Amino acid sequence: MKEKLQQIKQAALAELQAPDCDTEALRVKYLGKKGELTAVLRGMGALTPEERPVVGQMANDVRAEIEAALAERVAAAKEQALIDRLAREKLDVTMPAKCDRVGHQHPLTRAQREMEEIFIGMGFEIAEGPEVEYDYYNFQALNIPENHPARDTQDTFYITDNILLRSQTSPVQVRVMEKQSPPIRVISPGRVYRSDALDATHSPLFHQMEGLVVDKGITMSDLKGTLETFARKMFGEKTEIRFRPHHFPFTEPSAEVDVSCFVCGGKGCRVCKGEGWIEILGAGMVHPFVLSNCGIDPEVYSGFAFGMGLERVTMTRYGIDDIRLFYENDERFLKQF
Ligand code: DAH
Repeated sequence: MKEKLQQIKQAALAELQAPDCDTEALRVKYLGKKGELTAVLRGMGALTPEERPVVGQMANDVRAEIEAALAERVAAAKEQALIDRLAREKLDVTMPAKCDRVGHQHPLTRAQREMEEIFIGMGFEIAEGPEVEYDYYNFQALNIPENHPARDTQDTFYITDNILLRSQTSPVQVRVMEKQSPPIRVISPGRVYRSDALDATHSPLFHQMEGLVVDKGITMSDLKGTLETFARKMFGEKTEIRFRPHHFPFTEPSAEVDVSCFVCGGKGCRVCKGEGWIEILGAGMVHPFVLSNCGIDPEVYSGFAFGMGLERVTMTRYGIDDIRLFYENDERFLKQF
C-alpha cells in the first residue's frame, strides 16, 4: 500500500510536468472522489491498527504534495497566460497613427459659403426657391413674355408647357417680393439648368447667386457700393469694378459688371485673357414692371438686383480653366482646395 501511494505520487508529479497538462483533469484523476488516492484510502480498512496511522499520514502527505504541485502548476499557467496576453496586446505608442481620411467641402460649396458670409455681413438674408419652376416665375413675371428673344439666350429644359427647370435664380426674386414687403435684402444661391452642351465653359447644370434689394430710395449707387464691397472682400482689397451698359428685361438700366483682374491688377494676363478685366455678373435697377407684377408700387419703392455665376466666380478666384473639373469628382482636383 505504501508503494501504491508512492506510485500515485510519482505518476501525478510526472504528469504535472507536461507543459500543456490539464490541471483540472489531473486533480479529478488523483484527488477526486473517484480518484486513485481515494481508492487507496478506501482499502485502509484491511490494514492492521498499527499500520493505519502510518499509511494515513503518508496518504495525507502525498495528497498535500500533489495539491501543492497542482497549485504551482495552476499559478504558472496563469502567469504564462498573462505574459502571452501582454505580448499579444503590446502597444507601441511610437507607431504612427492611422489617420481617418476626413473629407472637406467642394470648392464650389466653399466659394458659395464665402460669398454668403460677405452678403450676410451686409445684412442680406438667404432665400431659396424651387429648381422645378413655373414659366411664369422664370420668365413672364420677370418681364420676359412668350416669344421674347431673351428666351433664346437661355436654352431651357421644359417639363410641360408651363413647367421648366429654372434657367436662372432670378425667379426667386419674384417669389420673395410676392411674399414679403420691403425692405427686402436677399441673396439666393442655387442650381440652374440650361440645355447647353458640356464644354470647358458651359455645363447644362451650373450655379448662380441672385441678389435683390428693394426699399424706398434705393439707387444705382447702392448697387455699386454693394458690389464693390463684395468684390473687394472676395477678390482682394485692391479690386476695382467696372459697369458696362447691357440689357436685361427685368432691370432698367442694366449693366454687366467686371472686376479688375486680381492676378495682374488690370495690366492684362493669361487669367483675364489680356483684358485686365473679368466679367462676373449682370445687374441693374429692378424694372418697374417686375415690381408691379409682384404687388410692389414702383412709385414708392425701387430696388436693385444682380445675378452671378458661382462657377465663374470660383474659376476666376482659383484660376480654374475648365468648368467640367467641378463635376468630375476627381480627387486630384478636389484635394487642392
Ligand atoms: N439672370 C441673369 C442671367 O442668368 C443674370 C442677372 C442679370 C440677374 C441682371 C439679375 C440681374 O438679377 O439684375 O443671365
